[in-house]
Amino acid sequence: MKIHHIGYAVKNIEDSINEFKKLGYITIENKIVDNQRNVIIQFIKNGDYLIELVAPLNKESPVTNLLKKQGNSPYHICYKTDNLKKEIEDLDNNGFVVISNLLEAPAINNKRVIFLYKEDIGLIELVEK
Ligand code: NI
Repeated sequence: MKIHHIGYAVKNIEDSINEFKKLGYITIENKIVDNQRNVIIQFIKNGDYLIELVAPLNKESPVTNLLKKQGNSPYHICYKTDNLKKEIEDLDNNGFVVISNLLEAPAINNKRVIFLYKEDIGLIELVEK
């Protein structure tokens, strides 16, 4: 599977956008407030490289604890797949644990995404092409 984006937990979206700009990243589209997942999302791009900045919307946010422990840091890699159902099955058979529902990602044109975890890999996300 090819990489779609790297998910990067940040405390403050605007501060991080400003810093990533100095590394050559530009913002694409608008930031999205995702009330379903309690996160604020901004995609930024540098050539072919896509980073998803994810900031907490509130204390219930899935990145709140991570930020407390590690500070700003990359925390998931998202892969694109032609066949979401089959890929989930294959990964499940390979020891990955599905840790989210299938969600429509407002920041990626409402494409469906899902998160999986395996101890020796960490957190990955799948997005349908
Ligand atoms: Ni992501």
